Amino acid sequence: MRSVYCGVLNASNIDEEVTLCGWVDRRRDHGGVIFVDLRDREGIVQVVFDPDAEDNFALADKVRPEFVLRVTGKVRARSGTTVNSNMATGEVEVYGTALEILNSSETPPFQLDSHITVGEDVRLKYRYLDLRRKEMQKNLYFRSKVTNAIRNYLDDNGFLDIETPILTRATPEGARDYLVPSRTHDGKFFALPQSPQLFKQLLMVSGFDRYYQIAKCFRDEDLRADRQPEFTQIDIETSFMSEEDIMSVTEGMIRKLFNELQGVDLGDFPRMPYAEAMERFGSDKPDMRIPLELIEIKDLMKDVEFKVFSAPANDPKGRVTAMRVPKGGEIPRKRIDAYTKFVSIYGAKGLAYIKVNDKGDLENGLQSPIVKFLPSEVCKAIIERVGAENGDLIFFGADNCKVVTEALGALRCKLGEDLDLYTCEWAPLWVVDFPMFEEIDNGGLTALHHPFTAPSCSPEELAANPAVALSCAYDMVLNGCELGGGSVRIHDQSMQQTVFEILGIGEEEQREKFGFLLDALKYGAPPHGGLAFGLDRLIMLMTGSESIRDVIAFPKTQSAACVMTDAPGAVDNTQLKDLHIRLRAKPQSEKVDSAGSEE
Ligand code: AMO
Ligand code: AMP
Repeated sequence: MRSVYCGVLNASNIDEEVTLCGWVDRRRDHGGVIFVDLRDREGIVQVVFDPDAEDNFALADKVRPEFVLRVTGKVRARSGTTVNSNMATGEVEVYGTALEILNSSETPPFQLDSHITVGEDVRLKYRYLDLRRKEMQKNLYFRSKVTNAIRNYLDDNGFLDIETPILTRATPEGARDYLVPSRTHDGKFFALPQSPQLFKQLLMVSGFDRYYQIAKCFRDEDLRADRQPEFTQIDIETSFMSEEDIMSVTEGMIRKLFNELQGVDLGDFPRMPYAEAMERFGSDKPDMRIPLELIEIKDLMKDVEFKVFSAPANDPKGRVTAMRVPKGGEIPRKRIDAYTKFVSIYGAKGLAYIKVNDKGDLENGLQSPIVKFLPSEVCKAIIERVGAENGDLIFFGADNCKVVTEALGALRCKLGEDLDLYTCEWAPLWVVDFPMFEEIDNGGLTALHHPFTAPSCSPEELAANPAVALSCAYDMVLNGCELGGGSVRIHDQSMQQTVFEILGIGEEEQREKFGFLLDALKYGAPPHGGLAFGLDRLIMLMTGSESIRDVIAFPKTQSAACVMTDAPGAVDNTQLKDLHIRLRAKPQSEKVDSAGSEE
């Protein structure tokens, strides 16, 4: 139907006759001449109809925004004053000689260029219109380029694309499962995969050696700007490759993507042990663009009178840290109050600070609600340890370790953004040496990665002191976002059982849930390991989008629903009967918090 896309026309096409198909972006009537901006996925070109071509002109007079047209015409240069340098096609226009209205359109519920002023719910309800916007077209176009480049890279490196089931059993990745009732097995349920984890390991047992899949994953968890209930992983698994080899091949993939598609050289990714990341940056995914650090001052606070600091300083589980903000002295009191409120989200009971006006005058040169509680030699020691200069501000956190780490870690990121402290555009990082387990509220242990991750110690050491064991897990972090994570896996059946036991999964439950894995490990399972990247997050970062929803064609809302199709929806009684399901009325007490929290 068309000879060329609207958005690619330029001066080299002058005098060509072209046939275009697209949507009316705008129509203007300029004293007898009608201008139609015609839009397709490549962009917009101006089409001109004048009254000399009577039929066309009359038809052009009828077109309205979002009508679908087929136009034939001649490409011509715009005259000097009418060249539009803001438009890729701005040097030319098409003089329309034939016009066909392929379809009309009702007035859209929002003007495509005024999407910012309409709520996201409206955009998502009419997503097919929202996706006509230039930004969304660009994002999805780019996403396709990325997946194509990924496939090429992995194919060049000998990886095979193998699909794994969507109707399966639970694959524990720390979230709730989406369940699907079985019609043929009364009272039984499939779970949608939280990841293809166990299947990809089984593919290694089967000898495929290098697997990848661009895989849909499903997790019923609280949503945020970088989380969707249904998202896509670039899922990778390999056999006979060391941790080093796996990190190298996956790092190579991300480096190549940035190189080819962004013209950015990310260089070699630095590595940082988990413990260091938590201690210095208060996060297991530190944003290394921000030059702020948490500095321990526990030793300086043990004997001060100020209980807020001395109590955690003398508690083995306590933490007292300082964070220097260069030139932070300019932060007004009101902003500091707002930051105090911000850290309270993480449980911090306050946010002490010192403004260093004149470090040579410890009596009068420090502006702070707490210096009156601190001996001047302690103030001096703090200033020296954090390297503060006049004009700086020092924030303090004192509480149990978790609260201080989370609160100051989050404050560090917030200050980075608010004060635009970024030192570079891209800061990739590998976080390594994760603990195997973390303690949960009931005093038990849970896997920090997943229970199939290999420890870096012997089974005996693991069993003797699981809480301090480290794992062969690694996360790739970019600009403070966890882009991907993976590990070397357990390929020894008894080690796998030891880990299950430490996690409190008894023998019967092991057989019931993971019997197939334990069996497979008995039949010559090779040493194997892999990693999965969050594709949506990767695209979000590469396109500079604020939300993961802007890089997914049909995302769910923050309450995990689709307002366009109205999913999840009710089902009729016959279907329920087929599934052996009877719904019970939800008691009032259960009605709150069914949809998960918002970002
Ligand atoms: P993990 O759970 O760390 O590991 O997930 C891997 C990556 O997937 C992305 N991701 C998400 N993206 C959007 N919405 C979500 N709800 C969401 N959850 C996770 C993140 C994350 O880094 N099977 C293991 C991988 C492995 O060990 O090979 C796994 O799924 O970018
Ligand atoms: P208060 O004595 O509670 O008025 O606190 C004095 C200063 O210490 C205030 O600036 C508080 O914000 C700050 N503060 C209180 N508790 C903490 C804490 N746990 N960590 C850091 N600062 C705190």
